[in-house]
Amino acid sequence: MLSLAIETSCDETSVAVLDNDKVISNIISSQISHVKFGGVVPEIASREHLNKIIEITELALSESGKELKDIKLISATSEPGLIGALLTGLNFGKSLSMSLNIPFVPVNHIHAHLYSNFLNKDKTEFPFISLIVSGGHTLLVLAEDFFKHKVLGKTVDDAAGEAFDKVAKLLGLNYPGGPEIEKHAVNGNKDYHKFPLAHVKGSEFDFSFSGLKTSVLYFLKKIDFANVKNDELINNICASFQNAAVSSLFNKTLSAAEKYNIRNIKVSGGVSSNKYLQDKFNFLKDSGYSISFPEKKYSTDNAAMIGLVGYYKYKFSGDKNYFLNEALLINAKAKVDYEKF
Ligand code: KG4
Ligand code: ZN
Repeated sequence: MLSLAIETSCDETSVAVLDNDKVISNIISSQISHVKFGGVVPEIASREHLNKIIEITELALSESGKELKDIKLISATSEPGLIGALLTGLNFGKSLSMSLNIPFVPVNHIHAHLYSNFLNKDKTEFPFISLIVSGGHTLLVLAEDFFKHKVLGKTVDDAAGEAFDKVAKLLGLNYPGGPEIEKHAVNGNKDYHKFPLAHVKGSEFDFSFSGLKTSVLYFLKKIDFANVKNDELINNICASFQNAAVSSLFNKTLSAAEKYNIRNIKVSGGVSSNKYLQDKFNFLKDSGYSISFPEKKYSTDNAAMIGLVGYYKYKFSGDKNYFLNEALLINAKAKVDYEKF
């Protein structure tokens, strides 16, 4: 079954065409107008999605060699994300499905990151410990089976990617900060400064990154960064910060895997493309762990992962007509009755 998937939850306008769970095309247009603001401006994001969505849809179709009349299912991100940005893709998808009289499946963006590890892979093995690390979310999940998830921990403040973005901004680096920090950290010394790892009271698997960001801020003030900055210093701070952030993610994920006795770990979301993080997790392979990351093009936001979850939800749902009517439901409905994290 051919499906068309739409992702507009943040600053990527993306449309993909899938044949069941196989990706045929996946076009991603990243908005660059936010760079000068050092972060995503929601109103600008919504307007740019609106300007781009038709063009990107046409591109995805032409690259797949398919036509709109071949499409039998539409999926779009329904939550979570920037509300105006979400509504653009959601309403575009619903309208398309109504005009074609085909089912529409709303998709939770975090589910999509979780399952992005299955894209272009032969096996869909469960159970696994899923670490989802993006610009908006940081979650540790026990995935027992399709759509049978137990959230073990979340961030209590900033998301991991958000911490990379904020620290990059403090250092005068561009948005998005993750790839910038990684680039500088490669030439830096991770032991240059020991930034503290947060201990979150209450849940053993919750994360906190705002304290780490603040400790970078205080450190920069202490060394009078603005007046002494040079490439070597920036590289060292990037490496030390990256080490602290990744260690926190790694330690909690490993503790969860040990506690639940699961040797299968899948990391996803924008931060999962970080090579230092990948290397750290890959070391566990020597102890018998199976470790996987999505391909780089599927780690940051993309419509292929939305299409995969849309296909799974449709495939596993008892009442297929439910999705035919879905497009007619008001947006608020889509926000309340789907599996939530
Ligand atoms: O998954 P994603 O595209 O969007 C959300 O759903 O939020 O993730 C974007 C986040 C940004 O915060 C970006 O700085 C971070 O992922 N990121 C990275 C790297 N590449 C992207 N963080 C660390 N290292 C990277 N190489
Ligand atoms: Zn995302």
